[in-house]
Amino acid sequence: MKILIADYLYIDGQFIQNLAVAFDSHIQAVDLPEKLLEQYPDATLIRAEPYTVIYPGFINTHVHLEFSANKTSLKYGSFMPWLDSVIEHRDDLMKDCDNAMMRHECDQMLRSGVTTFGAISSFGTELQICEEVPQRVVFFNELIGSNAQYADMLYGDFLERVKASQSCDDSSLITPAIAIHSPYSVHPIILQRAVTLAKQNQMPLSAHFLESQAEREWLEKGEGEFKAFFEKFFNTSTPVTTIEEFLHAFDTYPTHFTHCVQATEDELAYLAQKGHTIAHCPRSNRYLGCGRLAIEKLELPFSVATDGLSSNDSLNIFDELRAALMLHNDIEIQQLALQLLKNVTSDAAQALRLNNGSLKVGKDADFALVTLPELPKRPEEIALWSILHTKEVSKLYIAGEQYV
Ligand code: BEZ
Ligand code: FE2
Repeated sequence: MKILIADYLYIDGQFIQNLAVAFDSHIQAVDLPEKLLEQYPDATLIRAEPYTVIYPGFINTHVHLEFSANKTSLKYGSFMPWLDSVIEHRDDLMKDCDNAMMRHECDQMLRSGVTTFGAISSFGTELQICEEVPQRVVFFNELIGSNAQYADMLYGDFLERVKASQSCDDSSLITPAIAIHSPYSVHPIILQRAVTLAKQNQMPLSAHFLESQAEREWLEKGEGEFKAFFEKFFNTSTPVTTIEEFLHAFDTYPTHFTHCVQATEDELAYLAQKGHTIAHCPRSNRYLGCGRLAIEKLELPFSVATDGLSSNDSLNIFDELRAALMLHNDIEIQQLALQLLKNVTSDAAQALRLNNGSLKVGKDADFALVTLPELPKRPEEIALWSILHTKEVSKLYIAGEQYV
């Protein structure tokens, strides 16, 4: 048993003083330090540096490790030119992305306090690294393929990848999961099969949804920039589904929808009604010219995630939170800082069906310790100071073991 003592514990959106946490691989008690010492006299006592906040480990729900080699290959600024550049450079980017590079990026996440991430996997090439890293990984095997002719073959390949992620070593912290690439790129027949598979196995399910204005125009009218794209690369000029039909495919199974920037208020209300959640990727949306998700209007839990280096400049979760503070410049900043910390802890845990994200008895002992540069002058501003002053955490625990 270990007992961790710090100046503040982040519990239910508040910063509580004079409390400590006792844990092995799970949290056993949260109480006054003297009470815990009495209850567990043989425990190892760990005293954090002054001005430290114990947060539950942060959760980055949506990242594409396979695209970690991108620096300047992909065209930023507008969604369709970016997607064209993905098609053009995909093979080279995959070739340049080796295990050492992906491992380095997982380490960058770890240092920023990320104890769990959702890895969206197109090809399964990052499975080995995800087994080796200390973090918990929700391994999202991605299904793609709008052409009915190749659908069975692509579904077969997808099933093989799902199976590989299900047979990982017990020592790894991998949860097998399923990702649907998007409404425009997945045929409804295989979409339904994948949703049923997720539901049968109670696997986390995620899908990119309404990321760009071009996607909306294509799905609604079969027009716009996607028309030329599909004519050029897929020899077709009609979308395989509608927004409504796509959404209905997820009616009976709560799903983590990524982006949703171009969703209408009615569509967002529908997501909330069905128990779905959203992954919000502020820098990715800004860099690809997709617009701003109106988070102030959301009435459902949402996570904040980095997306991959295919549409970002780092996988540091604090870089993402600082970007979110800037992007949502009309929201009162202290309130927004508190909201964002909830997004990367308890909201994210709910979205990915995890047993972490809060400092409560029975939860996984995953902690990120943030040390502020001085005693905060006003304790009510700790959320904002945490985000502004942190590039790397001072200590980090996963399942009760220290990794930073
Ligand atoms: C497709 O299979 O339809 C697809 C794949 C990648 C991007 C867009 C569409
Ligand atoms: Fe993504």
